[in-house]
Amino acid sequence: MTRHVVATVDDIPPGQRLLVRVGGREIGIFNVGGEYFAVSNRCPHEGASLCKGRLVGLVESSEPGSYRFSRRGELLRCPWHGWEFDLRTGKSWCEPDRTKVRSYDLKVESGGALVEGELQAQTFPVLIEKQYVVIEV
Ligand code: FES
Repeated sequence: MTRHVVATVDDIPPGQRLLVRVGGREIGIFNVGGEYFAVSNRCPHEGASLCKGRLVGLVESSEPGSYRFSRRGELLRCPWHGWEFDLRTGKSWCEPDRTKVRSYDLKVESGGALVEGELQAQTFPVLIEKQYVVIEV
């Protein structure tokens, strides 16, 4: 596993996403209310560009006429056939034990920590006063 600096936090405001290419893989970085998630852009069903799909929430119902909406923006719906994946786990909502999109460990680190550490950003300069999104691939 290698750590890669892929963006500043300013590049991905809450509710937004950024598609990056790391080591030949396309990876979508999502900011959901200030939490960041990274998943493969390849849908495990038939290979669609999953990260172009809509972010949705969870609708649950215990009986007709009674609905509860939660987890706003934490599920990613594939644009081809509508399968939904949990950004926290990568698991398919309908078949969590069988189908999963590849997810990646992600951290937000200060430019100061990056400049002083062993990690180098190869595609853009790192400034001490900024915050950066770092993923492990
Ligand atoms: S390719 Fe994503 S649901 Fe079919």
